[in-house]
Amino acid sequence: MDRRKGDNRDANGGLAEATASRLRFDSDEEAVESEEVGMEVEEIPDAEGEEAADEVIGSDKTSADYYFDSYSHFGIHEEMLKDVVRTKSYQNVITQNSFLFKDKIVLDVGAGTGILSLFCAKAGAKHVYAIECSQMADMAKEIVKTNGYSDVITVIKGKVEEIDLPVPKVDVIISEWMGYFLLFENMLNTVLYARDKWLADDGVVLPDKASLHLTAIEDAEYKDDKIEFWNNVYGFDMSCIKKQAMMEPLVDTVDANQIVTNCQLLKTMDISKMTPGDASFTVPFKLVAERNDYIHALVAYFNVSFTKCHKMMGFSTGPRSKATHWKQTVLYLEDVLTICEGETLTGSMTVTPNKKNPRDIDIKLKYSLNGHRCQASRTQYYKMR
Ligand SMILES: C[S@@+](CC[C@H](N)C(=O)[O-])C[C@H]1O[C@@H](n2cnc3c(N)ncnc32)[C@H](O)[C@@H]1O
Repeated sequence: MDRRKGDNRDANGGLAEATASRLRFDSDEEAVESEEVGMEVEEIPDAEGEEAADEVIGSDKTSADYYFDSYSHFGIHEEMLKDVVRTKSYQNVITQNSFLFKDKIVLDVGAGTGILSLFCAKAGAKHVYAIECSQMADMAKEIVKTNGYSDVITVIKGKVEEIDLPVPKVDVIISEWMGYFLLFENMLNTVLYARDKWLADDGVVLPDKASLHLTAIEDAEYKDDKIEFWNNVYGFDMSCIKKQAMMEPLVDTVDANQIVTNCQLLKTMDISKMTPGDASFTVPFKLVAERNDYIHALVAYFNVSFTKCHKMMGFSTGPRSKATHWKQTVLYLEDVLTICEGETLTGSMTVTPNKKNPRDIDIKLKYSLNGHRCQASRTQYYKMR
């Protein structure tokens, strides 16, 4: 299997790998090391060059700012914009359903570069308020101006929860808030906050439906590489790390050929009606084996839909759909389950925002298999950090 391109959690708020790679040369030691191994190192700019660079990049930015404010860096926006499943879906929804936007007041929650606001303005919105809390808001302002939409789009730099909107109500709220495993990053609460504060009674939220799905996969090779690896590292037992590795869901793309069972809908969320509390839930599942195989992991993914369009539109981040930057979320099981066609793996999944840091997610998974070849029953805990 060559499906794993690395578990970099980059776009959509994950800070780990993308940020780390952006910071690669932040420390002098690392820069020296890279010289030693013969890598090309950029010349240190002279004072004049530094000033010019500051003007473009922003002199007040440090690596710490990037770390704590990953959305200020263009790289994360580049990745999201280049995710054509994501961005084209929003573009198609907006441009093919201009009746939803024509002469309407639109609120873009978490505007980033302003791409969704620009689509809405092009579709005939009367006015778009684009709220963005990161430094990218400054770029969004410039982008709006450069493209001649300053009269239609107002970029407001600040947190949705803290800004004053110049209008009492809006007709449409549009947002791309979804995180890994749908709920990681917890930006959904910001959308619900905006909905409750500003959306007119007959207003619409886009997208208005999101659903979480579950399936089971055979994944011997990669489980070995990511989990069993710690048993023997250059002859040393590092299996204490294995426990941590097991607890961290892996964000990665799964090959559809690895799927062993049916895919089950776990939870549907109606963004136009739900409360923040609905993002904590326990749901049962029953996965039916479609062939004789081993199961090493459960895989979660999400779909979103825009049901207010002429014709329902949306996209899936599932393993049978075109890959997106959200990939899928792999939860490795302690047991290797041997399952026969028609047998069922039953259980429940509990999802809750972490108490200390609500942007993180705690997952409790209970599963049980009472099969011909294998009986197993276990509860496992995972933390998305
Ligand atoms: C997933 S990105 C989407 C950006 C853009 N809408 C797009 O589709 O390319 C979410 C954006 O929301 C911003 N954001 C997150 N929470 C926010 C909040 N509470 N108030 C304002 N902006 C927020 C982030 O800084 C980020 O730029």
